Amino acid sequence: MASGKPKYYLTTPIYYTNGLPHIGHTYSTIVCDTIRRYKRMRGFDVVMTTGTDEHGVNVERSAKAAGIPESEFVAKMAAQWKALWDELGVQGDEFIRTTDLKHAHTVQWLFKLCRENGYVYPGHYTGQYCIYDNAYVDVKPGENCPDCGRPTETVTEENFYFKLSAFQKPLLDFYAKHPEFIQPQARRNEVLSFVEGGLRDLSITRTSIRWGIPVPGEEPHVFYVWFDALTAYLSAVGGPQYEKSGYWPADLHLVGKEIIRFHAVYWPAFLMAAGLPVPKQIWAHGWLLMDSAKMSKSLGNVVRPRPIVNVLGMDALRYYLLRETVFGQDGNFSYDALVTRYNSDLANGIGNLASRTAAMIEKNCGGKIPKAAARLPQDDELAKIAQATIGDVLEEYEKLGFSRGLEAIWALIAATDRYLTSEHPWSLGETESDQQRRTTILWTTAEVLRIVTVLTHPVLPDCTAKVWALLGLAGQVGGVDLDGLRWGQLAAGGQLGKSQALFPRIEKAEAIERMEAMEKEAQNAPSPVAATTPAAAPATAGAGTAAAAAAPAADTKIGIEDFARVEMRVGQIKTAERIVGADKLLKLTVDIGTEIRQICAGIAQFYEPEKLIGRKVAVVVNLAPRKLRGVESNGMIVAASVGPEGRPVLAGFPDEDVEIGARLK
Ligand code: MSP
Repeated sequence: MASGKPKYYLTTPIYYTNGLPHIGHTYSTIVCDTIRRYKRMRGFDVVMTTGTDEHGVNVERSAKAAGIPESEFVAKMAAQWKALWDELGVQGDEFIRTTDLKHAHTVQWLFKLCRENGYVYPGHYTGQYCIYDNAYVDVKPGENCPDCGRPTETVTEENFYFKLSAFQKPLLDFYAKHPEFIQPQARRNEVLSFVEGGLRDLSITRTSIRWGIPVPGEEPHVFYVWFDALTAYLSAVGGPQYEKSGYWPADLHLVGKEIIRFHAVYWPAFLMAAGLPVPKQIWAHGWLLMDSAKMSKSLGNVVRPRPIVNVLGMDALRYYLLRETVFGQDGNFSYDALVTRYNSDLANGIGNLASRTAAMIEKNCGGKIPKAAARLPQDDELAKIAQATIGDVLEEYEKLGFSRGLEAIWALIAATDRYLTSEHPWSLGETESDQQRRTTILWTTAEVLRIVTVLTHPVLPDCTAKVWALLGLAGQVGGVDLDGLRWGQLAAGGQLGKSQALFPRIEKAEAIERMEAMEKEAQNAPSPVAATTPAAAPATAGAGTAAAAAAPAADTKIGIEDFARVEMRVGQIKTAERIVGADKLLKLTVDIGTEIRQICAGIAQFYEPEKLIGRKVAVVVNLAPRKLRGVESNGMIVAASVGPEGRPVLAGFPDEDVEIGARLK
């Protein structure tokens, strides 16, 4: 570890392993990696932690469904997460898994400290629990989770409580003393009013879950998700020996806005109770939305990163995520905007600047960086813009304003394009003064390119490494000291490196089609625990990836009680219509005896809507509602999946005119 440099420790949230990453998760990680690279270029000795949150009832269930032990399940999932981060150029310094032994020791140690200091006591709790969000929710029995809309369960159990109520005043005092602790301001206000409203003690262990870190001497208690998960930040940098590493307290926990409360309230309270230093800052970013809803597996509106990386490259995804969304606010994802950004900003912007600069220097200067011998005011004008851009970008990056920082860099690229157009070095002649003028223009352009390359490196690590080599510059671009970056440092005489393709222009419709096709394939692919995972999802809508992932392995028998959990009833189709923009889906209203439900079914290519009216079908009525292509679907129509293409054939009741609402058992 480099000595003498100030230490900087930042973290991504640790991700649940019961699913695979989509670009919402990717956003958290890429932002963090960008900050990591930026801080390193500002002279910090940086450690970044990412990892996986591997305990809890969801994992227990997913592993059971896959027919493998939990430890095997989480190992396979964690490997997938890690592999993806590698593909995206994310260089986490520490990948922490909550099943790591060193993490278990840290959690147990933290609990002991809190208990010794009088902040832990045994008790009972009964409440409505959402197993998907891993949290008790404030609803009545029988009501659904207010966050994800899925059914809640009534849970009563013996557990240990953390005296969160004792920390109302210490936390409020702390927030007042450290106004920078919670960012952005809107989230700070939200947390303040939550804490001001009073804090209830918190249950931090469970006896109903097996898959967790044991509470020493108190088995069968295991630690409950947030006490376990948050502590990972400390386990990653030494745990009980954190002082030795010198990276605690963390400088920055970067999180999504829905988990700010856990980080800004619970986490500092746990640490205060244990007498440990509290992190310096929590930054909550917004969500990536798809069809105006948070991208999430439960809503079935996820977009995965790999198809994008395969078609456009990892830098394109990184650039899009950081440029298109103002940090702290929600952003909308669309393939269209992604490819537009790729072509206009990357191919025509930085890519074009690099290739035309290199080509002109090759042609006119024998591939050597020329001298700026005949400067005119317009050269100085561009130099001034570039110098000012350095200051503006660093100021924005420091505030994590990456979109505005990138905007400033692209304004410099645009100014350089205009400069080249008006100076048109290609039409200068061979007189000595023309030659001097041309070399001055080319040096000026190459110097802009060097500065652009350094400034964009935290966001575009792959492309900037190539441009750095193209400019024939020494060392690594990531090693450049941002504080020392000035106009005029490009030495003449250096030999250009080999030119490499950066961002070849791509035809939009074709690129989108390719990405969408890969996405679809990924959705239908067996999960990474494939050896024992179920067959692909049936063709009826409602049985998307979430349902498929929860289905048992073909060779695993289920008990009758498992089957009884699925409530299937006879329904009658009342209306059926096509959905604009979703050629496979039909929107149905179905009478299930007790109510009329809206259900989407993936049968549009095989059934005429008008011929379905009045037909009796089998309906899964207790499936959590979800949105398909933006349309609410509350239930699932059962169909056989026939032939290799999985053609849906609706299940029916030919023998008798069965009563609507009758249960299928
Ligand atoms: N395991 C907890 C975090 C524990 S941290 C001690 C968790 N995991 S998660 O996998 O559900 O989410 C991890 C991160 O991904 C969160 O920061 C969350 O905000 C982010 N995202 C998940 N979906 C997202 C979007 N659609 N958009 C942006 N980020 C989102 O919560």
